[in-house]
Amino acid sequence: MSKARQILEAKRAESLQGGGEKRIASQHAKGKLTARERLNLLLDEGSFCEIGAFVTHRSKDFGMESQQFLGDGVVTGYGKVNGRLVYVFSQDFTVFGGSLSETHAEKICKIMDMAMENGAPVIGLNDSGGARIQEGVVSLGGYADIFYRNVMSSGVVPQISAIMGPCAGGAVYSPALTDFIMMVENTSYMFVTGPNVVKTVTNEDVSSEQLGGASVHGSKSGVAHFTAANEVEAILNIKQLLSYLPQNCEEKPAALSYHAGNETRDGLKGIVPENPNQPYDMREVIENIVDEASFFEVHKAYAENIIVGFARLAGKSIGIVANQPAHLAGVLDVHSSQKGARFVRFCDAFNIPLLVLEDVPGFLPGTDQEWNAIITNGAKLLYAFSEATVPRITVITRKAYGGAYDVMNSKHIGADMNFAWPTAEIAVMGAKGAAEIIFKKEIDVSVDSQQALKDKEAEYAGIFANPYRAAERGFVDEVIFPEETRHRLIMAFEMLENKVRNLPRKKHGNIPL
Ligand code: HXC
Repeated sequence: MSKARQILEAKRAESLQGGGEKRIASQHAKGKLTARERLNLLLDEGSFCEIGAFVTHRSKDFGMESQQFLGDGVVTGYGKVNGRLVYVFSQDFTVFGGSLSETHAEKICKIMDMAMENGAPVIGLNDSGGARIQEGVVSLGGYADIFYRNVMSSGVVPQISAIMGPCAGGAVYSPALTDFIMMVENTSYMFVTGPNVVKTVTNEDVSSEQLGGASVHGSKSGVAHFTAANEVEAILNIKQLLSYLPQNCEEKPAALSYHAGNETRDGLKGIVPENPNQPYDMREVIENIVDEASFFEVHKAYAENIIVGFARLAGKSIGIVANQPAHLAGVLDVHSSQKGARFVRFCDAFNIPLLVLEDVPGFLPGTDQEWNAIITNGAKLLYAFSEATVPRITVITRKAYGGAYDVMNSKHIGADMNFAWPTAEIAVMGAKGAAEIIFKKEIDVSVDSQQALKDKEAEYAGIFANPYRAAERGFVDEVIFPEETRHRLIMAFEMLENKVRNLPRKKHGNIPL
């Protein structure tokens, strides 16, 4: 072998070593995979093409010039997931704890720029001790270069972040600016300030897991859109998520082939109970409408009174936003409004049609909600739906009360088709509350006020606790039997496939953030 070939071979072998065997063993001992093992799982076999494998840092302080690792703590490049191009970076904790140096940041920026120019998703596998402490401000600058690209790429190409180890300090803001965050239970955490600083400032004793582990961010803060039991599951979930998305904002999501059959779904018949105050699980409705086993839920354990997620209908990707009567009666509150709004905006940015399943008793009353700005937050959902130009269809299964009726993708704010089941009740409020207010005087002077209230409640319900008043006005396009829903939706989404709706010319709107 020629000397030149030997040098290249040796360098290639060295770059695959990361921080060396000992550190790889310690990574494995923590139940974590290495940066390259993760990429092997994510990408189609043999598809990974590395960029910048021989990059080294430029730092000369603290004896750093003698500590060089080829690749400088991050593996970057491109490859395929189920045959589709993606750009990837995978931080290597075995090299300076995956910390971000100037050159480490440059490598990430390079693939982000290429992803933008070539219109393909970026997937970041994060496992890092944060800013390379020995480098100081150039590391901070590197972070900002990434943040800027995250923002410029937002709405152009899908960006997905997996957190597979520490992600702390300002470093959290790159994942936070991407579209989806996936966290791994027990081995990943995210926080702006760690347990030690928290103890000093607030005197709280808290572990990393309690402060910013996967379960906390998956349920309490909503920072994580998905949590996985282990890294393998996390990567499989990312692959599934990608399957619903287009490559970029100019494309539609890829459809799976589908052979039409009998689209009647008898399973939808008995789900809504006779008693309008009895809960039921909206997931059952979803499962009976969409293609078998195609529902992929986002933010599953966060703000459970609203359900959001991707699914396929006749092979095509759709986004679902559904009230969940089984949790807090499906009421809209601060968190569920934020959760819904963010999902609607993602789907709209990437040409994914929206299906809304509505059973909502209104907005949640109380000081907690008012003081936490339910006004501003509810407006987010209203804004997001109003602005969305993708095909939008609503099915009212039961309650569509008050302001929440307007907000949940009503015709008035631009929905294309609204269907209602015969069990739908479309009114300003529930019959009891309405009767108590508008018939107060009559009820007060009646001999049997309880009976009078019941009579008036029945009178109000008789007029409004149905879908027909709304259908008379055209606010509901068609009242359908539940079992017809899947067929009607397939037809309606097909009819809307080439929809074009333009927004008024503007620099950008001002969503109530
Ligand atoms: C340089 C680092 C490093 C860092 C870890 N290492 N973090 N080197 N810069 N930020 C090195 C360690 O020295 C060690 O080197 C190796 O990585 C593994 O680290 P350990 O501490 O042995 O691992 P572990 O016990 O698992 O602890 C991981 C850790 C801890 C919790 C992440 O390393 C840690 O607290 N690191 C510092 C975190 C931090 O404060 N970062 C700056 C945050 S501020 P050897 O040679 O011994 O293997 C920030 C600002 C971003 O990031 C701002 C953006 C706007």
